[in-house]
Amino acid sequence: MHFKGSNILSVGQFNADALQQVFQIADQMAPYAQRKKRTKVLDGAILGNLFFEPSTRTRVSFGTAFNLLGGEVRETTGMESSAIAKGESLYDTARVLSSYSDIIAMRHPKSGSVAEFAEGSRVPVINGGDGPNEHPTQALLDLYTIQKELHHHGRTVDGMHICMIGDLKYGRTVHSLSKLLCLYKNIRFTFISPRELAMPSEVLNALSNAGHQFNVSDELTGVLDADIVYQTRIQQERFASLEEAAQYRGRFRLNSDIYTRHYKPNTVIMHPLPRDSREEANELDNDLNHNPNLAIFRQADNGVLIRMALFALTLGVENLVSKYDTEVVWFSDKANY
Ligand code: NCD
Repeated sequence: MHFKGSNILSVGQFNADALQQVFQIADQMAPYAQRKKRTKVLDGAILGNLFFEPSTRTRVSFGTAFNLLGGEVRETTGMESSAIAKGESLYDTARVLSSYSDIIAMRHPKSGSVAEFAEGSRVPVINGGDGPNEHPTQALLDLYTIQKELHHHGRTVDGMHICMIGDLKYGRTVHSLSKLLCLYKNIRFTFISPRELAMPSEVLNALSNAGHQFNVSDELTGVLDADIVYQTRIQQERFASLEEAAQYRGRFRLNSDIYTRHYKPNTVIMHPLPRDSREEANELDNDLNHNPNLAIFRQADNGVLIRMALFALTLGVENLVSKYDTEVVWFSDKANY
C-alpha cells in the first residue's frame, strides 16, 4: 500500500504488509507520546479536524497526535456551527477546507460521507467514523492493542478466539475490526447481541470467505474460552427513538462476577469507549477497573500512536521524525506509563 498522499477511508485498503508498517511506525512514536522527547517534523503543517458527530477520544487523539508531531490543529465540531447547516455540500466544504489544511480527519453521521468529502478534497482525508459504516483508525488501534496484549500471554492474532458483545448492527468499530481480521488466519468469533442488533451478513460473509469460524448468539451462556472479549455500547444515536434504544441497554453487562464465571483467566477486556456507565446500561462495570486484563485505557492510549503513524505515513515524513527531535524541558513522568 502506498501511504503518501493517500486517503484512509476503509480497512479494505490495508494488506498485511501495510499493517505491519503502521504498527512499526506506531512503536517508534512511543517516546514522543510519553514526552521523553519532542519532534518538530510537522512544524507549520495544519490538520483540519472536522467532527460532525459527538467524539472525545477520536477527536482529541487525532489533534494530540498531530500536535505531538509538531503540527497545528484547526477544529470544527457539530453540524450546527458549520456551513453544512446552511445547506453546503460536502464537496464544497472539502474544496474550501482542504486549501486551509495539509490533511483532514473527519467524522460524519452518514455512511459513505467521508469518501464523498474526500472527492472534493485536495489533501489526504482520514475517516474518523462515517455513521454505522466504518472506523478504520479505531480498527487499527484495536488490532495493535490485541497484538500487544496477546503477545504478553505468548499468543498470536492468528488462531485467537474473540468474543464481540452488544450492538453489533450499528457499531462501526466491530464492523471495521472484523473486516481487518480477515487478513489473519483461523480466528474464531463469537458474536453476542440482541437478535435485532446482530452482526450484518456482509461482515459474516467476509469472515467465512477468509476461512474464519463464527458463532452467533443472543445470550451469554457457559464458559467462553475467549482470548479477547470486546464489549460495545448500544449506539442510541442510530435508532429511530431513544425509547427503542433503551430496550436493548443493559442486556449484556460485563462485571467481575460474569467475567469470572464466563471467561478464562487472562481474557483481555476491550471496549472502544465511551462505556455507557448509566445504571440502566453499565455494560462494563467499574468493579473491573483494577483487573490487569482490562485493556481499555491502554487501548485508548494506543490511539495516539496509531494516529501519529498514519499522519507521518500519509504526509511522507515517517523516516524524518527523529531528525527533527528537540528536548522536553517541562516536568513529566508519563515515561512510566
Ligand atoms: C466509538 C465510535 O464512535 O464509533 N467510539 C470511538 O470512536 N472510540 C464507539 C462508540 O461510540 O460507541
